[in-house]
Amino acid sequence: MSKFPKRYTITAALPYTNGPVHIGHLAGVYVPADIYARYQRLQERDVVFICGSDEHGVPITIKAKKEGITPQEVVDKYHSIIKKSFDDFGISFDNYSRTSAKIHHDTASAFFKKLYEEGKFIEEITEQLYDEEAQQFLADRFVTGTCPKCGNEESYGDQCERCGTSHNATDLINPKSTISGSKPVLKETKHWFLPLDQYESWLKEWIVVGHKNDWKTNVLGQCKSWIDDGLRPRAVTRDLDWGIPVPVDGADGKVLYVWFDAPIGYISATKEWAEREGKDWEPYWKDEESKLLHFIGKDNIVFHCIIFPSMLKAEGSYILPNNVPANEFLNLEGNKISTSKNWAVWLHEYLQEFPNQQDVLRYVLTANAPETKDNDFTWADFQARNNNELVAIFGNFINRVTVLTHKYYNGEVPSSGVLSETDERTLQELKTYPEVIASSLEKYRFREAQAELMNVARLGNKYLADEEPWKTIKTDEERTGTIMYVALQIATTLAVLCEPFLPFTSKKLKGLLNFSDLKENLQWNTVSNNSNLLPTGHVCGESELLFSKIEDEQIQQQLDKLEASKKANKAMSTSLTPQKETISYDDFSKMDLRVGTIVEAEKMPKANKLLVLKVDTGLDVRTIVSGIAESFSPEEIVGKKVTVLVNLAPRALRGVESEGMILMTENAEGKLVFLNPDEEVPNGNTIN
Ligand code: MF3
Ligand code: ZN
Repeated sequence: MSKFPKRYTITAALPYTNGPVHIGHLAGVYVPADIYARYQRLQERDVVFICGSDEHGVPITIKAKKEGITPQEVVDKYHSIIKKSFDDFGISFDNYSRTSAKIHHDTASAFFKKLYEEGKFIEEITEQLYDEEAQQFLADRFVTGTCPKCGNEESYGDQCERCGTSHNATDLINPKSTISGSKPVLKETKHWFLPLDQYESWLKEWIVVGHKNDWKTNVLGQCKSWIDDGLRPRAVTRDLDWGIPVPVDGADGKVLYVWFDAPIGYISATKEWAEREGKDWEPYWKDEESKLLHFIGKDNIVFHCIIFPSMLKAEGSYILPNNVPANEFLNLEGNKISTSKNWAVWLHEYLQEFPNQQDVLRYVLTANAPETKDNDFTWADFQARNNNELVAIFGNFINRVTVLTHKYYNGEVPSSGVLSETDERTLQELKTYPEVIASSLEKYRFREAQAELMNVARLGNKYLADEEPWKTIKTDEERTGTIMYVALQIATTLAVLCEPFLPFTSKKLKGLLNFSDLKENLQWNTVSNNSNLLPTGHVCGESELLFSKIEDEQIQQQLDKLEASKKANKAMSTSLTPQKETISYDDFSKMDLRVGTIVEAEKMPKANKLLVLKVDTGLDVRTIVSGIAESFSPEEIVGKKVTVLVNLAPRALRGVESEGMILMTENAEGKLVFLNPDEEVPNGNTIN
């Protein structure tokens, strides 16, 4: 193999089409993938950059139920919003497809069928969780329960968001249906399993041995831990009515598991692109000299490093990913980004508030990319990086160069006299940057690469500050010409090298420098081999500011918006418990609820939360132990009207017999509140 692969097949995780995309998606997956793809294109390499909407799976059906529309309507809506966001942010996919496309259904079906016919699956009748009320099997996100690995009580059926473990819904402790809230039962159903256990030693050899030096440590770490825990057969079909029908007889009502079909979406999207472009898709997926790369977030590692490669291996004719440069997560102002809590910066909203400032966000997200650990996005940092770096370093350099060129030479590149030692050194240093930046990018170190890019602008600023053309113009015209000539070469190099990171800025800058009049299309290699990029006599375009300062008020507005989300969540969080199972009227009428009055209250010794109350229930005065001591002092509640469940079986709390229960709720701050009639009523009145 030559030093570089023959072609690059670059994929970015297909986003679920159940909501818009936010900065976390951009930072973790799409910006790094885009930088990489743009960079390789500038190296004049054969690249296909693939993505699309992931339109199957349970979350989409849940969203549809919630909004009272069909799953197809959900995916149509978000597919266009997401696609537009990617376009708006300059994510340069060669194809953005969708898994509801016919070509994908055909491709995924054929893939399954081939594995099925070659006996690569295990067919098994197993017991799966079933919701008797909803009359539905409960796959994946239709179930929550306690994670068997870390004890998270809100783990999903397919994956725990806290520890990242992927499991089967039947592994959950205390499973609960997210549809009805009821406790599911086990019911028999037939499914097809990919026997991952059979791929274990092969995976170990391929990843743990084969890629120990070139895969990121966070990725290797996760893979090792899965392999060490022992892999088990994994169901690749589901009882569900939304997805790609299982293409074999006797599989009515069953679809392919979304994580089986979605990664095949990379292949279908490549096919769709090839058809459109009149190319052959197969070398991109089957030629060993192609480099297959998956850009993903850390929650996708198991699927891209273990399951999908096992599928490809089982199929037999595909290449495997050369690397899976997964990122960790981006937090927002110290908290986990959350769609349901609206704790996010949505791309479509950002653009309304910061029009034409895509590159600022791209820049900040790369500067803070969660490459090796989770990282935090803050609006203060966003403002500082824009004002102190993009405006003060990059923008300032370009502005000085273009303004002075217009002022002294009417925009024409002056001729260079004899180069001084500083000039030579500066141009020499300039020529090293393409190599330096490339070396970081080839290792998927995007933050480091972008920091080096900024050093090019710093080099330019330092050069101008040291050589002071605004002074030499008064004394030495030839020297001034040379200085400006050198400065213009730095600006030109910057215009080319910034393209992967700041595509909109690059375009603008190329306009300022009037690249369209150049004979040659400048590429990565041109700028590393040549320092006569913008020739004497070339006329530049109008000068214009590349970046503008972001004011405190704009930042405050964003912080206020987040504060509002926080408040709304607090207000909502108390009512979020899902409805319990339906009960009959008889069940309800078994409860004897009465109005009562607290007549005495004292602290339970050595218990922080408990008060021992004497309550007049109209029937009697009885003792009730209540866990309200953190919300009330004994003194303040004597005389309070309350609602009491009087026929609750008595139980002893710390040796004190409690004969009933006081009904309470909680306010937005978490303080307990009594439920009592809003008019004076006698003790003993029944409540029904
Ligand atoms: N939709 C998944 C997510 O957002 C990613 C799917 S990636 C693919 O986490 F490989 F399956 F396409
Ligand atoms: Zn867990």
